[in-house]
Amino acid sequence: MFDHLNALPADPLLGLITAFHNDPNPQKVDLGVGVYRDESGHTPIMSAIAKAQTIHLEIEDSKTYISPAGVEGFVDGVKQLVFSKDSAAYKDGRITGLQTPGGCGALRIGSELLKRLKNDNLTVWVSDPTWANHIPLIKATGLEMGTYSYFDAETGAVNFDAMDAKLATLGPSDMVLLHGCCHNPTGADLSFENWQQIATRAAKQGFIPFVDLAYQGLGNGIEQDVKGIRYLSEHIDEMIVATSCSKNFGLYRERTGSLLVQTTSQKQANAVLTQIQEAARASYSMSPAYGGYLVDHILHNDGLRNDWETELNAMARRIKDLRSGLLEKVQQRNIDKDFSFLTTQNGMFSLLGISKEQVHLLRDDYAIYMADSSRINVAGLSTNSLEYVADALKAVIS
Ligand code: LMR
Repeated sequence: MFDHLNALPADPLLGLITAFHNDPNPQKVDLGVGVYRDESGHTPIMSAIAKAQTIHLEIEDSKTYISPAGVEGFVDGVKQLVFSKDSAAYKDGRITGLQTPGGCGALRIGSELLKRLKNDNLTVWVSDPTWANHIPLIKATGLEMGTYSYFDAETGAVNFDAMDAKLATLGPSDMVLLHGCCHNPTGADLSFENWQQIATRAAKQGFIPFVDLAYQGLGNGIEQDVKGIRYLSEHIDEMIVATSCSKNFGLYRERTGSLLVQTTSQKQANAVLTQIQEAARASYSMSPAYGGYLVDHILHNDGLRNDWETELNAMARRIKDLRSGLLEKVQQRNIDKDFSFLTTQNGMFSLLGISKEQVHLLRDDYAIYMADSSRINVAGLSTNSLEYVADALKAVIS
């Protein structure tokens, strides 16, 4: 029965984990998959998470199923973290949501919700480029997809005029997938003015924003990183947000995320909740609860929350320092390429804008691992590896 199935190549991002692991070079540098790393290359358990685990171990006395929507305090806490407790939509009970297995689960159930709208013309538009898994995840539901222009490779910034020209053609059958902050893979984020323009267009033309928020707090701060989303929420009726706690709570393997849907009324929100719960039930039944409990403890305990915010801010600071550190080192080497985008971009990723051949040379000759697109995980650098990476870039670019 399985005879005709061929072995597939490894996932382009996840395959880098194994390739890096098997490389014996002691100087190897992992700039591949997007996980936060400390100076020693370790992905730590955040201190607030470690404390929340102890608390949870003390109080958890059952592993029976919980509500299909997941941990209630978690979903409510994330709604407030993203939209703020003072937002009109939150206060009116117009935002519904459920806990999902990571941000991927949220993107998938969000797409299942769109499928249920039974609109054959419905199209989901993603930025060109976008995170490598967006298209497979969404397309698997059978939705039509297309791309909008986004990135200006010359400047390393968003080409908003080109994006806006595409948005101008969209209407009520269109969903626009936006990166809330820390765009993956480019690091080039929309400005607040860009978000305002998107809101104006969405309100007038009727397309719906579907925001992937996987890095809140790792760009310019917990509040700052959701300014665009909050503006949308205030100025349009309906939107979808997929959140992830993988990076900002360091909960990667606990698969902790949420799907949040803003609707026009509480009645509609209640109906949407039944639909997304049913979509989840038909897919994986219910989300793992553990990560949600930990985040719930942190968001509802002042001491833990303070610990979490302090550590998250320090992580974001470290990424910014690595960005300016790498820029300084490459500038010192007079490389024939302008890397100044490193310090204007946000979050864990930057697209170096070098060829696939150069990426492979870096991997084969210097054991520096990055995606074929030349996306680097900036957090995979360390103050000790900056010189080595800059030397290698100089060698492969000249
Ligand atoms: C990444 O983009 O590297 C991360 O989001 C990990 C993943 O699942 O691809």
